[in-house]
Amino acid sequence: MLRRLAWTSVPSASFSADGLDDIVARAGRNNERHHVSGVMLFTGARFLGVLEGAEWDLANLWRKLARDERHQDLRRIGDVLCGERWFPTWTMLRTDSAAVRAQIESLRSPQAPGPAAWADAVHPITLRVRHPAPRPDQRLESLRRAKARAGP
Ligand SMILES: Cc1cc2nc3c(=O)[nH]c(=O)nc-3n(C[C@H](O)[C@H](O)[C@H](O)COP(=O)(O)O)c2cc1C
Repeated sequence: MLRRLAWTSVPSASFSADGLDDIVARAGRNNERHHVSGVMLFTGARFLGVLEGAEWDLANLWRKLARDERHQDLRRIGDVLCGERWFPTWTMLRTDSAAVRAQIESLRSPQAPGPAAWADAVHPITLRVRHPAPRPDQRLESLRRAKARAGP
């Protein structure tokens, strides 16, 4: 049975930004081997992850995540059986968007939507990081280019 779970945690004192590359390289290899897909967002102050895979593989990975001292305050914010994957592979994305930081904070709060509704919140966050809204000056620039291509 395919399962999707979402988690969030806080980097601990033993975490270093350089160490992130190690985590990502190993996680990428392990996840590929175990057919685990998903995404991990890192804001500099919080992690947010979505993991998809077989129940057995996710249970094993959860045990490792829970023991890992490079982060703390690990919270499972979503856990559902699902028919299909949202993510074809596993990737790590960084973001410094204040809006995304605020959304992650609200998912960590006791008033968070709860396991049934978390998916409605997490998926748009990951999409937003992947496809950020263009800044107004970028929007103008692409309009200018489109006009130039269209000719006089
Ligand atoms: C924030 C964070 C996210 C992680 N995500 C994953 C992951 O998606 N997959 C994974 O295999 N390990 C992940 N790890 C590392 C595991 O906790 C663990 O160290 C690793 O799976 C051990 O790999 P090994 O069994 O090959 O030694 C993560 C660690 C941290 C701190």
